Amino acid sequence: MAVSQTNSAWATLVDLGEPGRGRHRLNDRLAAGLRTAIRDGRLVEGAALPPSRALAEELGCSRWVVTEAYGQLVAEGYLAARVGSATRVSWSPEALPPRPSTPRAAAPPPVRYDLAPGLPDLRAFPRRRWAEAVRAVTGSAVHYDLGLPDPAGHARLRTTVAQYLRRSRGADAQPAAVTVCAGVTDGLVRTCRTLRAEGVTDLAVEDPGWGRLRDAAASTGLRVHPVPVDADGLRVDDLARTPARAVVVAAAHQFPAGAVLSPDRRARLVRWAREKDGFVIEDDYDAEFRYDRHPVAVMQGMAPGRVFLLGSVSKTLSPALGLGWLVAPPALAPALRAANPVATAPPVLDQLALATFIERGWYDAHLRAARRRFRSRRDLLLDTLATRLPQARVDGTAAGLHVLLHLPPGTDAREAVRAAAAAGLRLTDLDGYRMTPSADRALVLGYGNIADTEIPRAVDLLAEALSGHADAAP
Ligand SMILES: Cc1ncc(COP(=O)(O)O)c(C=O)c1O
Repeated sequence: MAVSQTNSAWATLVDLGEPGRGRHRLNDRLAAGLRTAIRDGRLVEGAALPPSRALAEELGCSRWVVTEAYGQLVAEGYLAARVGSATRVSWSPEALPPRPSTPRAAAPPPVRYDLAPGLPDLRAFPRRRWAEAVRAVTGSAVHYDLGLPDPAGHARLRTTVAQYLRRSRGADAQPAAVTVCAGVTDGLVRTCRTLRAEGVTDLAVEDPGWGRLRDAAASTGLRVHPVPVDADGLRVDDLARTPARAVVVAAAHQFPAGAVLSPDRRARLVRWAREKDGFVIEDDYDAEFRYDRHPVAVMQGMAPGRVFLLGSVSKTLSPALGLGWLVAPPALAPALRAANPVATAPPVLDQLALATFIERGWYDAHLRAARRRFRSRRDLLLDTLATRLPQARVDGTAAGLHVLLHLPPGTDAREAVRAAAAAGLRLTDLDGYRMTPSADRALVLGYGNIADTEIPRAVDLLAEALSGHADAAP
């Protein structure tokens, strides 16, 4: 509707309401009403507005109110005023291209049971203690902590993390070598940028592996080469045949195959890095959850000049916190800073909360309780699988929050995942993590975020999904 000076509906169009209504001054309310009318197309571009005196009369307000409102909208670019001519609308909303009508996809069935990997037990997040840590640091942070953050992370958290990694993971870590980052993915991007600046062009990753890490590495311009994994972890002989000078390895518990890198492979990998003048990027994933013995120390402690160590609280507390660390070889600390000039650290109060959480012993206590809970949940899952799917072979059970369920030859894993999803069970097919096709069919079963009481029903649904989708092969 084009509105001209003769339109008598201004009071309706801009609806100033009752005098004295609302917190805003009359001129602000008039400006807001006109702005909305212009934005939603009721006042079109080119339309003339009434002279200020006329509109003031019509609205029953002072002329000052109208000239103020017009002036505000001229300043914002919605109106144009020219001497001797009417004030006119000078803006129109962008015409959006008509949307192609796409048939609405059917909503996926709700997930009732989650056996997909990737999450810790979110029900067990230590809310009370985390809230206590946040409260404590919000009250106690000195005022300069609230200024510009150190891009490498707050000194207190760097010190606390270095101590934790030395004490708990056998790392060779000094605070100066620790960078606080948003997690393993962020740490990997920073590491890859640094390696590129050091002349590295090719990087190896485990196959199968977590696609997000592969993508993160490739996004920095490195060429990515898959290296197979077997029961002893990364195959170092195969690595040596690639042009890679750096490799990402989850030594403590490979994701998703579940292998723990054997002592022999660890030694060979360090030797490879020395001979190649190369680097190992150790993703200390799942390391805190080892069930049959104490967690194995990080490789970084064997060769701190060759290994970048990456870790986060995504699998121990929650990925929503976005807090992690990167320990770089000390000689590369300046290169790390130079290669990541605009990288920022996570919010300072969150960093200080994590430092408090660790310093007060709450992180260790949480990990001890989580380890107990996950061990008994893993046992329950394995027992239930043994009863309901006695032929199934299960691997990767020694650590972490997932196991590998090998499927009989001929099973269509993808169909099984689909059938399970239709019944409300979320599963993940190993093939989704591979870069190189393989005949081995398996599912990756995560037990981090499923309640113990849900496991029997989830395994029943799994067995049903598999029985409907196995062919007649032996
Ligand atoms: C192999 C692997 N490494 C590391 C992580 C943690 O990544 P971030 O710290 O970026 O959340 C995950 C999370 O699922 C993972 O699967």
